[in-house]
Amino acid sequence: MKVFVNKRIPEIGIHMLKDAGLEVFIPEHENLSQDEWLSYCKSHDVILSVGGEFKYDKDFFAECPNIKAIALYSVGFDHVDIQEANHRHIPVGNTPDVLSKATSDVAFLLMQSVARRASYNFEKVKSGNWGDFDPLHALGQELYGKTLGIFGLGRIGFEMAKKSLKAFDMNIIYHNRHQNTEAEEELNATYVSFEELIAQSDVLSIHANFRPEQKELFNTSVFEKMKENAIFINTARGGFHNQKDLYNALAEKKIWGAGLDVTNPEPIFKEDPILELSNVCVLPHIGSATIEARNGMAKLAAENLIAFSKGEKMPTCANP
Ligand code: DGY
Repeated sequence: MKVFVNKRIPEIGIHMLKDAGLEVFIPEHENLSQDEWLSYCKSHDVILSVGGEFKYDKDFFAECPNIKAIALYSVGFDHVDIQEANHRHIPVGNTPDVLSKATSDVAFLLMQSVARRASYNFEKVKSGNWGDFDPLHALGQELYGKTLGIFGLGRIGFEMAKKSLKAFDMNIIYHNRHQNTEAEEELNATYVSFEELIAQSDVLSIHANFRPEQKELFNTSVFEKMKENAIFINTARGGFHNQKDLYNALAEKKIWGAGLDVTNPEPIFKEDPILELSNVCVLPHIGSATIEARNGMAKLAAENLIAFSKGEKMPTCANP
């Protein structure tokens, strides 16, 4: 079985594939054009797919009928038409669990950075404006006992809630497609409607899998209903928020601030005015960027393909 890996991943995954007798191809240069990527896909049986820039849509599956399986090097699978993959009996592996701690750490980091105005203060230091001690300047807000609203209480949302509960004794509310009674018990969390979530959260953190119908769900009509002290955190997918509306809400101080590990569009343009705001902290999609998580993802993606090559079900599959 010939495996096309579009970008280098931690060696452990590549070793596992080779040890299992699979033929692995990684192109020498990594920033493939769409045409180069497609031509490599056409000449392989399975793909270990890194990054979200290439779309596995109906056109892709029609052009590459030889592709038998895809192992994503990500937990998110919004760049794959899962229905079409199902229709063609193509399993699509993903990498849940192994990155939940790392990604929720970034949400937690952003929450604190925005609450304590880290970007603003960092800029002051860099520009030589440390300033004198001022009892009234650069004041942040404390998170103790505040309400954390989780949009999407899956694995990553659970980890974010757990940390916030332990560190700041936060009151956890959440909104999901389905109620999660087990997590509710462990976190003393309360299931609320979407309207309640946005109205009651002091910190609103998105952890759901992105679906096309949720495109820019977080827009002016939502930001207007949030609290003035609210912190908006998005470490899931940039498509969840309308960035111009978010900019307006932040510039007009309708909400306190925002922490983004994902942007809309992604990557963000360096001219995007949101980067000029002092109540925003933006990171370049580094949620899973730890040695531990990335090794775990490499192992899991390899395990998925090895299982497939033996005619077994992938251990972690995005297809229902
Ligand atoms: C994921 O695993 O979905 C991360 O966002 C990296 O793409």
